Amino acid sequence: MIDLRRFSTTDDATAAAAWFIMARLQTKPDLVLGVATGATMVPIYANMVAAHRAGVADFSQLRCFSVDEYVGLPATNPASFRATMGAHFYDPIGIDPAHCFVPDAMAANLVAEAARYDAAITDAGGIDLMMLGIGINGHIGFNEPPADFAGRTCLVELTAETLNANKRQFTDDVVQPTRAITMGVATIMDAREILLVATGAGKRQAIARACAGPVTPTCPASILQTHRRVMAILDEAAASGL
Ligand code: F6R
Repeated sequence: MIDLRRFSTTDDATAAAAWFIMARLQTKPDLVLGVATGATMVPIYANMVAAHRAGVADFSQLRCFSVDEYVGLPATNPASFRATMGAHFYDPIGIDPAHCFVPDAMAANLVAEAARYDAAITDAGGIDLMMLGIGINGHIGFNEPPADFAGRTCLVELTAETLNANKRQFTDDVVQPTRAITMGVATIMDAREILLVATGAGKRQAIARACAGPVTPTCPASILQTHRRVMAILDEAAASGL
């Protein structure tokens, strides 16, 4: 069952998500955190950066694994998820780059790279806390519907819906990738704890399906209902369909 926490504003929800993560970091300084990108996550990272600057959070031992990365974008491209994580979180907190893991989406053999990345998560001891956003089509990571609930980290084709939702991340001079490497649903479900965050009315339907609908591959996030330790932090707009 998903432990639902509703907040009246987006600011309150994202601050609560940041403090939830930092509370886990306090009990385990070398926390292995699965990290997502996207608009939902930006204020969460901003709250954690503010806590770092205020000297109330220590990220020096944190290890981060990105949930996904676009194929064909080098880490130096500002539209890559690696660069996005750098700009919003890694650079301001001064984390050791050796603690930041992301699939190499420029690898010659992307299938082998996906398997290597999955193994690297296992080698790190597995993910303690997995941060997730949700797509308007119910995707988690880039596991598009219909999702393979048994899937490990893999190469995926993005749906037209996701390409459209994410096109704002790309300036005119960058061709939007249509493929990504994503942690698979089973890789995500292996995390010891999951934190799903959704804000805004655009996520209303996806959240209603994910949290209160049937568990079905047509709504990939609905599998989270079967995880033993999962919390959803929602603002009122995202929660309004529940
Ligand atoms: C991004 C990711 C995606 C996003 C989701 C929501 O790393 O894995 O699943 O979390 O598409 O994106 P936003 O927050 O931009 O609505």
